[in-house]
Amino acid sequence: SIGGRTEIMKVFITRRIPQEGMKILSQAGVCKVSLWDSDEPVPRVELLKGVEGAHGLLCLLSDKIDTEVLDAAGPNLKVISTLSVGFDHMAMDEIKKRGVRVGYTPDVLTDATAELTVALLLATARRLPEGVVEVKNGGWSTWKPLWLCGYGLSGSTVGVIGLGRIGMAIARRLNPFGVKRLLYSGRTAKSYAAEVEGEYVPLDTLVSESDFVVVSCALTPETQGLCNKDFFSKMKNTAVFINTSRGAVVNQEDLYQALSSGQIACAGLDVTTPEPLPTDHPLLTLKNCVVLPHIGSATYSTRGIMAELSANNLLAGLQGTDMPSELKF
Ligand code: NDP
Ligand code: DGY
Repeated sequence: SIGGRTEIMKVFITRRIPQEGMKILSQAGVCKVSLWDSDEPVPRVELLKGVEGAHGLLCLLSDKIDTEVLDAAGPNLKVISTLSVGFDHMAMDEIKKRGVRVGYTPDVLTDATAELTVALLLATARRLPEGVVEVKNGGWSTWKPLWLCGYGLSGSTVGVIGLGRIGMAIARRLNPFGVKRLLYSGRTAKSYAAEVEGEYVPLDTLVSESDFVVVSCALTPETQGLCNKDFFSKMKNTAVFINTSRGAVVNQEDLYQALSSGQIACAGLDVTTPEPLPTDHPLLTLKNCVVLPHIGSATYSTRGIMAELSANNLLAGLQGTDMPSELKF
């Protein structure tokens, strides 16, 4: 407050977001919003300009929030609210040093992302994209006993790497398909895994015994490149690999080798490095690799709720009140 008059705080939003979020910010009347009014990412120079003197920043997972951005924002910055549950795009140490609070969007996207993971798993294992293409291009000549066969969940062993909110929601959804064993790995055993009869096992055991390997962990220095040559070489030749976490958990060259040599059966990826994956990328030449454009949380309602939550996180950060979802780090 300056001279008894409340100072309007400045907020920068790095992209067009669902109107549910914009409405909350405009109705609150506590901040002046400037928006990168596009569906495309804000160019780096515009980001650095946009955050100048900002009290709040609402960003996306495609914005790299590093020292340079924090310095450009300067000492006014109180809060960064990301429209995502993942926070690997932000330099958390630097943010902490500056005493900036961080809001994110856990829980509200768990169901949508778990559902998409199951869809991708089934599409990959049962070769749906290949089948669709064959119908359209005349490759479907007749019903053939040996044609377009894949792998089923019934009686299988599923391994979930990272049984967190989303990993657990995936396990809950897969179990009714008749999964025989549900393995999981991570840093600690989870008591809630009992609900899905999850067995906490070392990563090596999970990789070598699973028919379906599903990656749903956070990207950290420890998980970066976790799925590499050594990892794929331990998988069954008939195993299906699914990643809906972050692209960088996978070494894509090693995955390409594993898929093209028949070391593993097939892979479904919702996340890649980089994003978008260049259209001439070798992985896209493989029939046994299904790549989606990072649409895990993409339902209308989930995206609306994410926008609401990120707006409310931002407001709380500006006003110094409790955030609905504050990242503690
Ligand atoms: P959680 O924090 O609930 O779960 C993350 C899990 O990662 C934890 O259970 C943690 O296990 C595990 N983990 C951390 N380190 C390791 C490790 N070294 N090895 C194995 N597991 C590890 O997050 P959410 O479930 O809400 O989200 C998970 C991730 O999913 C996000 O970080 C994001 O990257 C991604 N995501 C992708 C979406 C998409 O559109 N495809 C949508 C939403 C999220 P432990 O507790 O044992 O450390
Ligand atoms: C996240 O929230 O981290 C996802 O990748 C997008 O919803």
